[in-house]
Amino acid sequence: MLQEFTALESSALAALEHVSALKDLEGWRVAYLGRKGSLTTLLKTLGTLAPEDRRAAGARANEVKARLESRQAEREAALRERSADALVDREPIDVTLPGHPLTIGRLHPTTRMIREITVALTALGFQTVEGPEVELDHYNFEALNIPPEHPARDMWDTMWLDYPAKNGQRPLLRTHTSPMQVRYMEAHKPPVRIVVPGKVYRYEATDATHEWHFNQVEGLAVDRNVTFADLKGTLYEFARRMFGVQRKVRFRCDYFPFVEPGAEMAIDCFLCDGKGCRVCRETGWIEIMGAGMVHPKVLENAGYDPKVYTGYAFGMGVERIAMLKYGIDDIRHFYSNDLRFLHQF
Ligand code: FA5
Repeated sequence: MLQEFTALESSALAALEHVSALKDLEGWRVAYLGRKGSLTTLLKTLGTLAPEDRRAAGARANEVKARLESRQAEREAALRERSADALVDREPIDVTLPGHPLTIGRLHPTTRMIREITVALTALGFQTVEGPEVELDHYNFEALNIPPEHPARDMWDTMWLDYPAKNGQRPLLRTHTSPMQVRYMEAHKPPVRIVVPGKVYRYEATDATHEWHFNQVEGLAVDRNVTFADLKGTLYEFARRMFGVQRKVRFRCDYFPFVEPGAEMAIDCFLCDGKGCRVCRETGWIEIMGAGMVHPKVLENAGYDPKVYTGYAFGMGVERIAMLKYGIDDIRHFYSNDLRFLHQF
């Protein structure tokens, strides 16, 4: 029996010398040390020996098993090293090559613009608040003095949601940030000085200056004795902070049902200094927002006494302002996820 172990050991070690690949090493292990391998088969015959022979044979069997296992491990290490060397020979590493550059994340131009606008207004005493994008007809229209069937509803093509009506109100995606005027006044006592950035949605065909979803920033200030002069002064200072101290500001009449009087504000074109160019469509002026004195009905709808309090409000399109500031000629670039565009900011 002892001789059989010795013979098996020599033949296994001789076979191991011929193993030159890792996959063959596994075959060798199965042939000698596996469950049905030669050594295991031989071990099973130990039980047939006389007890005095069994002890010596058992000790020899363990010795052979240990040696084969340790030689297998050595062989495996050598083969692994050899295959790593071969890989290096095949694909040499040039340590002088520059590494892969790490791409640094950056803020989306819309986010940057929202921050720039809100920072400029915060410096003028406004506090930033946010509101829901899914709104009720009441806040988006009715409380803003736009009753059902009012022709002004056509100014904001609405995306209605297919959800059951709540308190008789069908939910919609807000078409502007103005609903937050009423929501905020309902929940807070005057004085109010807020700025509301957020996404808005309109059922509109897209083109170079129109998106179906875009961002607005709303402003609202309400207190005793707030006048149109306060509105003009605030927006004038805002324009100087955003577009530079040399900018001129122009107010013209405009109509929004929730302000009276209503106005549109424009700045003189920063590209041509008001002489007329492609950006200002040869007019010398660029419209940047709607504004006006809060309509007494809106104050009333929010629970404020319009005989005691007055206020002004304004609302601007964030992407449109970014387009003007950075000379972007198509609003659709903002949400097309083209990295060549986004990397510029
Ligand atoms: C309004 O939405 C009013 N809520 C603004 C307002 C607030 C007026 C408070 C008075 C008092 P308007 O629909 O004009 O107004 O939109 C405001 C701004 O959003 C526009 O000046 C424009 O910059 C931007 N805007 C409007 N439609 C789009 C569109 N489809 N794509 C991108 N920007 C748009």
